[in-house]
Amino acid sequence: MAFSRALASSVVLVFLLFSFSEAREILVGGKTDAWKIPSESVSLNRWAEAARFQIGDTLVWKYDANKDSVLRVTKEAYSSCNVSSPIAEYKDGNSKIVLDRSGPFYFISGANGHCEKGQKLIVVVLSPRSRFISFSPAPSPAEIEGPAVAPTSTATSLKGGLMVVLGSLVGMFLF
Ligand SMILES: *[C@@H]1O[C@H](CO)[C@@H](O)[C@H](O)[C@H]1NC(C)=O
Repeated sequence: MAFSRALASSVVLVFLLFSFSEAREILVGGKTDAWKIPSESVSLNRWAEAARFQIGDTLVWKYDANKDSVLRVTKEAYSSCNVSSPIAEYKDGNSKIVLDRSGPFYFISGANGHCEKGQKLIVVVLSPRSRFISFSPAPSPAEIEGPAVAPTSTATSLKGGLMVVLGSLVGMFLF
């Protein structure tokens, strides 16, 4: 009984994970007042390293528009805290930046002296290949008609079974 409940929960969980993987809004730093000079110099990038960013995700920045801003800059400007010619500037206090490609994005504060004190962030967006491995590729016509059907479907159901086992483990862990 407990197992089937865990199984049902995990099916729901997997479904939720898949639906939420489409387009997420991610609050920078995980909280509303995170875009500021950090008390711990690495905390913003530590947060970013623990998160997994995907193409299409939106970063949401909340800060006091009278005191701060967000500059999207090059790697060089990030390293040297050069605020003079950003790729893009955001200063409305509630900035949304869509991560429209894979690879690194560099952000620094536009407030005088803040970048030097550690208010900077690198976000690395995963490449599409590293997201989800397709579990059921469309079979070619040869596979449908020929004798190759049996091993293919065995492999598919093995993978399916593995997914269910993994899913239930995750389910039991969380519920
Ligand atoms: C900042 O960047 C601009 C444009 O790339 C450049 O002209 C300028 O020399 C840089 N300033 C410093 C202090 O590196």
